[in-house]
Amino acid sequence: MNKGLAAVILAAGKGTRMKSALPKVLHPICGQPMLYYPLEAARMAGFKQLKVVVGHRSEQVIEAFPDEDLTWIKQTEQLGTGHALMCAADSLRGYSGSLLLHCGDVPLLKPETLQQLQSYHSQQQAAVTVLTAQMPNPHGYGRIIRDGEQILEIIEEKDASEEQRQVTEINAGTYLFDSDFVLSALKGLNKNNSQGEYYLTDIVAAAVAAGKKTRALCVEDPTEVMGINDRCQLAEAEVLMRWKINADLMFGGVSMIDPTTVYIDSGVEIGADTTLHPNVQLRGKTSIGKNCIVETGVVVVDSQVADRSHLKAGSAIEESRIGPDCKVGPMAHLRPGTVLSGNNKIGNFVETKKIQMGEKAQASHLTYLGDAEIGRNVNFGCGTITCNYDGVNKHKTIVEDDVFVGSDCQLVAPVKIGRNSLLAAGSTITKDVPPDSLALSRTEQKVIDGWRLRKQKKS
Ligand code: UD1
Ligand code: CA
Repeated sequence: MNKGLAAVILAAGKGTRMKSALPKVLHPICGQPMLYYPLEAARMAGFKQLKVVVGHRSEQVIEAFPDEDLTWIKQTEQLGTGHALMCAADSLRGYSGSLLLHCGDVPLLKPETLQQLQSYHSQQQAAVTVLTAQMPNPHGYGRIIRDGEQILEIIEEKDASEEQRQVTEINAGTYLFDSDFVLSALKGLNKNNSQGEYYLTDIVAAAVAAGKKTRALCVEDPTEVMGINDRCQLAEAEVLMRWKINADLMFGGVSMIDPTTVYIDSGVEIGADTTLHPNVQLRGKTSIGKNCIVETGVVVVDSQVADRSHLKAGSAIEESRIGPDCKVGPMAHLRPGTVLSGNNKIGNFVETKKIQMGEKAQASHLTYLGDAEIGRNVNFGCGTITCNYDGVNKHKTIVEDDVFVGSDCQLVAPVKIGRNSLLAAGSTITKDVPPDSLALSRTEQKVIDGWRLRKQKKS
């Protein structure tokens, strides 16, 4: 079996300290479940066979990651990190070489660090290489007991003596193992410790006893190995991750007037020379082109915005595609299925849903357009409404190229307006309109001379 390097990712724990019905590794960080990050880091570091150990609410975790390169391993009882790796032993039968073990609750670890760990491990020809960090406050972590380069053992906080607790070098919970060694040494683990668990960390002392080399790689930035156990740490990780996302985008040519207030999900793409004003949220599978302006209060979810478009203050955009050179907002609401071809203007208090708009078509104020196919150069006057819903079914409105819709028109769907026609202001359009015509539907205006004066005299 040689399908590339293997990694085991532990994600079976309940996450008791989260006090949540949701499994810990599914809590989101910048729009992705926590477990997404360790998986991605392992992949990017070149680990091709990914085996994920799940236990608590495993079905829910598995469902969240339909990726084909994952092998799921069930640990029905959580008897400790050593036991978790024992559960994966069967799926590693026949595998030899370096084996990565990483935890699902350590989301900030960079792929480069895993690569460094892997190359240091092979260069040293160690049986175990532990990733460590110097923590100013090491509380809660396992402590690294060294004799020079050789790591003698890892002592869990709960089992440590007063003197051992003074050690500030901690176990990050990420290791490279010689897989043959670790799989045989696992059989020797026991539960003789304060938590009554099979500790994976005991592998280090086992390696020393077997006369093997044990090494540690200490990360420079201890925040990278931060484990998430409660919601305060989750929020802390979110802040760090968010800053990293924003910094990467800024280095890529995006301007942010106040990056501390900009919330961008992992994976969102933004082109160079686009400027984000304060308080912007770009979520899900979203991309923004080059030279765009995104003003304050704009929320974009699962949408694509092309170059040079301008999203004005307070607009909300969901599952929509905005072509180049469009102007949207302020206070516009683009609901799912909105497609603007380019050079469109969607002004204030305009709501759209499931519409396609040809180039240069515009709706500048106070309008609802739903379930409509709109041609090029169409102009909707203020207060246009597509009456698309009869209480039971949705119906379609078709408006062909170059139509001019006067203010305050209602288009009662299904209805089709032929190209280059004009709908007079205030009309309720219930029948199709042929091309090049005028459609007008109003009751004729009555004027009663002197009516006001007569009223006033009476009173
Ligand atoms: C573990 C390490 C500790 C290290 C710390 C780093 C041990 C004994 N201790 O402690 O030295 O400093 O991580 O964050 O390994 N898990 C399972 N099955 C189990 C138990 C745990 O899959 O039976 C998973 C958890 O879901 C989690 C990871 O293993 O993703 C670590 O478990 P956790 O209980 O958080 O270990 P710590 O006490 O943090
Ligand atoms: Ca932990």
